[in-house]
Amino acid sequence: MKSFAQLMHSRRSCRKFTQEKIDPEALSLVLNAALLSPSAKSRRSWHFVVVEDKNTLEKLADCKESGAALLKNAAVAVVVTANVAENDCWIEDCSIAALAMQLQAEDLGLGSCWVQVRNRGLNSGERAVDIVRGILNIPEGFDTLCILALGHKASELPLKNDDDAPWEQVHVGTF
Ligand SMILES: Cc1cc2nc3c(=O)[nH]c(=O)nc-3n(C[C@H](O)[C@H](O)[C@H](O)COP(=O)(O)O)c2cc1C
Repeated sequence: MKSFAQLMHSRRSCRKFTQEKIDPEALSLVLNAALLSPSAKSRRSWHFVVVEDKNTLEKLADCKESGAALLKNAAVAVVVTANVAENDCWIEDCSIAALAMQLQAEDLGLGSCWVQVRNRGLNSGERAVDIVRGILNIPEGFDTLCILALGHKASELPLKNDDDAPWEQVHVGTF
């Protein structure tokens, strides 16, 4: 296991995956990281749809004009949804759960990439959230924040270094 600081330097958005499948135990650890993540008032109103079927991955890859094509070659996609009426902090809760999965994936040596769904769509005006709902039978009242692409990295991206951290955006005392 990497130190947390090493983990934060090594996690990069991985958009190219090998064809190797993800070990079920590793996938279970990734999902567990989401399920153990903090949520507002501990409501835990997220739901996660795990997709491994190639045909379904290809359909999800077309849910918006750009930035989702990488789902086509992912081993697994985890669709992060929540009951929005039940929780006014659903975006925060889903974001935390998604990042927890990304960090757990990195710790296992797996690559991941966040694919934004909320507020995205096709040029036709069709919303990505509705396209994803149709593909996966997600009930009305649930919205999708993002889809995490997961898989074995096809190549290693450079580690982040301290120059990548915009310290000028940290204001001590006052802005
Ligand atoms: C809210 C959010 C939405 C993102 N949406 C996408 C996306 O739709 N497609 C994509 O390829 N990457 C997406 N990314 C990944 C970012 O492009 C990436 O995190 C950023 O360029 C920094 O690179 P790094 O993750 O390697 O540090 C998203 C990241 C975040 C946090």
